[in-house]
Amino acid sequence: MKLLEFDNNPKIKNRLYERKKRIIDANLDIIQDKKIIDIASNNGRWSFAAVEAGAQLVHSIEGRIDKVAEAKAHFNRLDVNDKIRTNTGDLYNWLYDNQRINVDTIFCLGIFYHITDHYHLLKLMARTNAKSIIIDSGFVRSFKNMVHIQAENPKLHRNALPEFEDQEQELVGFISLGMLIQLSWNLGYTCKPVSWNPKEVEYKNEVQDYMMGRRYTVRLDKMQHFHDSNWQSYWKDELVKINPKFSGLFDKTTHDSVSDDRQRSSLRNSSITIY
Ligand SMILES: C[S@@+](CC[C@H](N)C(=O)[O-])C[C@H]1O[C@@H](n2cnc3c(N)ncnc32)[C@H](O)[C@@H]1O
Repeated sequence: MKLLEFDNNPKIKNRLYERKKRIIDANLDIIQDKKIIDIASNNGRWSFAAVEAGAQLVHSIEGRIDKVAEAKAHFNRLDVNDKIRTNTGDLYNWLYDNQRINVDTIFCLGIFYHITDHYHLLKLMARTNAKSIIIDSGFVRSFKNMVHIQAENPKLHRNALPEFEDQEQELVGFISLGMLIQLSWNLGYTCKPVSWNPKEVEYKNEVQDYMMGRRYTVRLDKMQHFHDSNWQSYWKDELVKINPKFSGLFDKTTHDSVSDDRQRSSLRNSSITIY
């Protein structure tokens, strides 16, 4: 798997292998021969994976200049420069400036929990008229609307970009699965889980966050309407495969006891729900 050449860290080899199966292999219908935007592309690993899987063209956008340089070196070495247009800058500005770009699919991988303005980002992605969006992110395991806010260090290359010099922390938010579903509907997209069925996962230890239902690969596809009445069936199917207890998330009386521990206390005050 050439994707592994992007990271010299043997510890994440198996994790990348499992993620690739769900992010790329499970979504070939919206990758092969398609035009793609890869936001927050870091060293370019998923842009390359898209091209390797048969994408027609990828526009990558990344805020850290050293990571873009790294990505370009990889693309040169792997001879895929003609298929990937690398862009450096703030992804919000770039999406705003490129609203009329003609693409099929957007990769939003590993960035949706390094931000606090989730709906703004979703709107910017939706304005490109992309038919599909793949989001891979940490979430709060709950079907009530909520955001768990925490701080992270913007000096680390995988985190939010700093807003000012010497900034030591930036606030970032994990939104709940229920909130993502409703925001997606509001922009005319379905929001379905890509299967992380533990029976099909070879290296569970390396993907424990997925195995706890705290991280997910999610696929949004354009729909005609602004509500998807079947949402419960496929979310329930998937969550129950991860842990049978998670069926309680679909019952108002048991929801709070199986939701994510990061949010349990604040749930008592949460009145808006997806039900
Ligand atoms: C966790 S990494 C994800 C990398 C890659 N998409 C993946 O899944 O492996 C998050 C990336 O987002 C970039 N980033 C964070 N905020 C950004 C912004 N506002 N504009 C552009 N890039 C940003 C960071 O520099 C970092 O490379």
